Amino acid sequence: MIRSMSSADCNQVAMIEAQEFGTILDQHRLLALLKSPVFFGFVDDLKGTNAVFDCPTILISYLLANIIVDEAEILSIAVLADYQNLGRGNELLKHFNAFVAAKNVKTVFLEVAADNKAALTLYRSQGFSECSRRLAYYKRVDSRCDAIKMKLHVKEAFP
Ligand SMILES: CC(C)(COP(=O)(O)OP(=O)(O)OC[C@H]1O[C@@H](n2cnc3c(N)ncnc32)[C@H](O)[C@@H]1OP(=O)(O)O)[C@@H](O)C(=O)NCCC(=O)NCCS
Repeated sequence: MIRSMSSADCNQVAMIEAQEFGTILDQHRLLALLKSPVFFGFVDDLKGTNAVFDCPTILISYLLANIIVDEAEILSIAVLADYQNLGRGNELLKHFNAFVAAKNVKTVFLEVAADNKAALTLYRSQGFSECSRRLAYYKRVDSRCDAIKMKLHVKEAFP
């Protein structure tokens, strides 16, 4: 079940973030983000689904974003490794796109590494297209990789 993120989710979101990115978006920083009036977070929680009926919260993915007036920026999106390539990222991003459409957001931006095939496929399939590049932005073991900025023109929810 996809739902809004709460402070009780920060620990599990931080664990997914660390596993998937190894970054420093830890529990403390996530709690600070949640206090921001422009921040919106969503999680996919197995609790409440048919698969797992009566269990504690088990988060398998999250999406973090800022929304300022009619622009949104996706800060991070990740699905736990065991649940990747099963359509979960697709569902989460669709949920977010419907949410921003209802808030009259016109444009969504995000940034992705040029070698992240799964993420690029996901974003392109939902209508994102490249709008700029930071050349050689990400370090790899013995090379560098571009960062691609992508943009989505949100379809009006109430045309
Ligand atoms: C990127 C990510 C969020 C995608 O979520 P997901 O649940 O694995 O993706 P889905 O199963 O919903 O698939 C979405 C699309 O990507 C494709 N895809 C998924 N995994 C893929 C892979 N490893 N290689 C190529 N394409 C892939 C799917 O076939 C699908 O394409 P379609 O819409 O044309 O059928 C997820 O893989 C992830 O968390 N990766 C690690 C963190 C990350 O890179 N986040 C994005 C940072 S910008």
